Amino acid sequence: MKTSARLDRLPPYLFAELERKIADKKAAGVDVISLGIGDPDTPTPQLVVDALTKAAADPGTHQYPSNRGRAELRQAFADFYARRFGVTLDPETEIVPALGAKECVFNLNLAFLDPGSVALAADPGYPVYTGGPLIAGAESVLMPLVPELGFIPDLDAIPAEARAAARLMYLNYPNNPTGAVVPEGFFERVVEFARANDILVVHDASYTETTFDGYVAPSFLETPGAKEVGVEIFSLSKGYNLTGWRTAAIVGNADAVGAYWKLKTNIDSGMFEAVQLAAVAALSEEGDQIARDMSAIYARRRDLVVDALRAIGVAVRSPQGTIYIWAPVPDGHTSASYCELVLEESGVVVSPGGAYGPNGEGFFRISLTVPDDRLSEAMERLRSSLGG
Ligand SMILES: Cc1ncc(COP(=O)(O)O)c(C=O)c1O
Repeated sequence: MKTSARLDRLPPYLFAELERKIADKKAAGVDVISLGIGDPDTPTPQLVVDALTKAAADPGTHQYPSNRGRAELRQAFADFYARRFGVTLDPETEIVPALGAKECVFNLNLAFLDPGSVALAADPGYPVYTGGPLIAGAESVLMPLVPELGFIPDLDAIPAEARAAARLMYLNYPNNPTGAVVPEGFFERVVEFARANDILVVHDASYTETTFDGYVAPSFLETPGAKEVGVEIFSLSKGYNLTGWRTAAIVGNADAVGAYWKLKTNIDSGMFEAVQLAAVAALSEEGDQIARDMSAIYARRRDLVVDALRAIGVAVRSPQGTIYIWAPVPDGHTSASYCELVLEESGVVVSPGGAYGPNGEGFFRISLTVPDDRLSEAMERLRSSLGG
């Protein structure tokens, strides 16, 4: 069987070895606690489930949906953006639903990249920012995110050849995996940079609704001029506990949204209309409380993990957003060797930072998406096995 050259270009799956070790541990009877993947543990809110149940009972939702999305859903995104961010969006031209941010990021590469062109991708970053360009036959150029610069890319350091070849730039704040939030003034510089270099900015807003300590995350589209150069992907997965439902939207620049839509009409047949109507419920004013309640849960868990890590000598920053803790591995370890040690000694799975890009090396990531008692137990195991 011959697979495509594009498939062969993909790097080996970095979690493969860790997954094998987890399977071995479980087979040996160890009660493994996984703090690896970021998938909310609490159920999808009743408001959303009820809206789905009602909509699914209506045969009017059972046929092929359209890729443009139902008018109610596009209007719900427009109302949400106006209420939450003060951003005006035209539901006819500036909003198209996506089957999750992952699908949207991936397909944007197919819509915008050719061989020889480039996507600028944060390093460390969500792996699809680099895997997507490869599958599209293009390249990604990494923009290092380092603690000294607050985990934002140094735009001045992007080489001239990369600027010339770049068509896309992926950004994501609050940021996975570092937990960083965007500093004042950075999005303004991004707009200038994108204008000067004719690059479409793609801001992945997967975590804007998960923030702590009174911090309120902005939309990229609040920035003057942003809509001329950019789009934002807003996902309901993390903030609203809808990971399994595959609900997101691309919003912003009408030409870019139109290009994505044109591509999508050839790839999939849109989002189940009952799910669209459930997403309308999540995006309603009543739904605003969902994200606030979830943020309160993650803030409590963040404090639990940060305090526990600091108590065993890990110098960790306390993030103002996301569902992750990004912590340095102790001296003498690589990310992978430390994660293996943690699994071996305590039966706890944490993610090696190197899996998110070369600049993730030297860090590990903890996801806060397990119940408090399991998280406490995981921290207690770390303390007793690695604390001294
Ligand atoms: C930065 C980022 N973007 C996108 C996604 C995927 O989101 P969705 O469930 O909407 O596809 C994730 C999931 O972990 C993520 O961390």
